[in-house]
Amino acid sequence: AVRVVHRIDELRRCIQGWRQAGQRISYVPTMGSLHAGHLSLVEAARAHGDRVVVSIFVNPLQFSAGEDLDKYPRTLEADCAKLASCGVDLVFAPEEAEVYPYGRANLTQVAVPGLSSLLCGEYRAGHFEGVTTVVSLLFNLVQPDCAVFGLKDYQQLTIIRRMVRDLHVPVEIVGMPTLREPGGLAMSSRNIYLSADERAQAEVIYASLCEAADALRAGHRDIAALEARGCHRIDQAGLKTQFFQVRQADLEAPDDATQQFVVLAAAKLGGTRLIDNVTVDLN
Ligand code: PAJ
Repeated sequence: AVRVVHRIDELRRCIQGWRQAGQRISYVPTMGSLHAGHLSLVEAARAHGDRVVVSIFVNPLQFSAGEDLDKYPRTLEADCAKLASCGVDLVFAPEEAEVYPYGRANLTQVAVPGLSSLLCGEYRAGHFEGVTTVVSLLFNLVQPDCAVFGLKDYQQLTIIRRMVRDLHVPVEIVGMPTLREPGGLAMSSRNIYLSADERAQAEVIYASLCEAADALRAGHRDIAALEARGCHRIDQAGLKTQFFQVRQADLEAPDDATQQFVVLAAAKLGGTRLIDNVTVDLN
């Protein structure tokens, strides 16, 4: 079994011992309901450090009113069983009152302006501020040498890299590729909201992203047409596209010299919001 702690003082004691022994600490922050994508981050973390810490915390700060905070899947026991079998040294699973003992009103915030209001930020006001605030808070608790994030949440990873750069946070950020179901659907904790039919329907997102990526590789540069085509194809499959955008790797608008692209999409299927992206490197 893996060691699970719920309190900050226990976490700190554990971490302190490892630090004093000169061990390198890798960290994977999660909201639980773990799938193979999360476990691939744990694998990477193991390769990057002597000790691996995983946190499981459904952070209320990053959910807006009307989102799925209350119904977000919470499966701590099953999560810990999975983590035990992949060599995790410590699971930190705090209650909300442990993380925010003084409440969430007027809480100190860490924000990355600009990047946080694009794309997903347009549809989820305050979401990325909630993410950057909790990630810096968690970094202060765990004090890792390295932290691993998935490219699945491309904008989140970009924002965290920017935060770490701007605030000189002494944590190495590692990004890992997206794990997918056999039909291409990106693994996500939210996929449990989908019926079998909906899962099949949702495969259109990755298929459309791949189509745009292939077109970019083939030299197509009518970005507006690629975006319109992607939106249309996803809508035709019965989803409601929020955006389908071609950007530079840094999320700026592409220009004639762009070599590294990312194509990002968000769409709703029933009440479930799904995101995905693919990168294209012409070098
Ligand atoms: P969560 O959605 O649980 O994701 C935790 C980590 O797993 C993130 O870095 C995410 O990008 C990665 N991940 C999710 N699906 C993946 C997949 N299919 N393949 C590879 N990696 C995948 O992201 C969060 O939690 C939260 O915002 C958090 C960073 C923990 C802050 O609360």
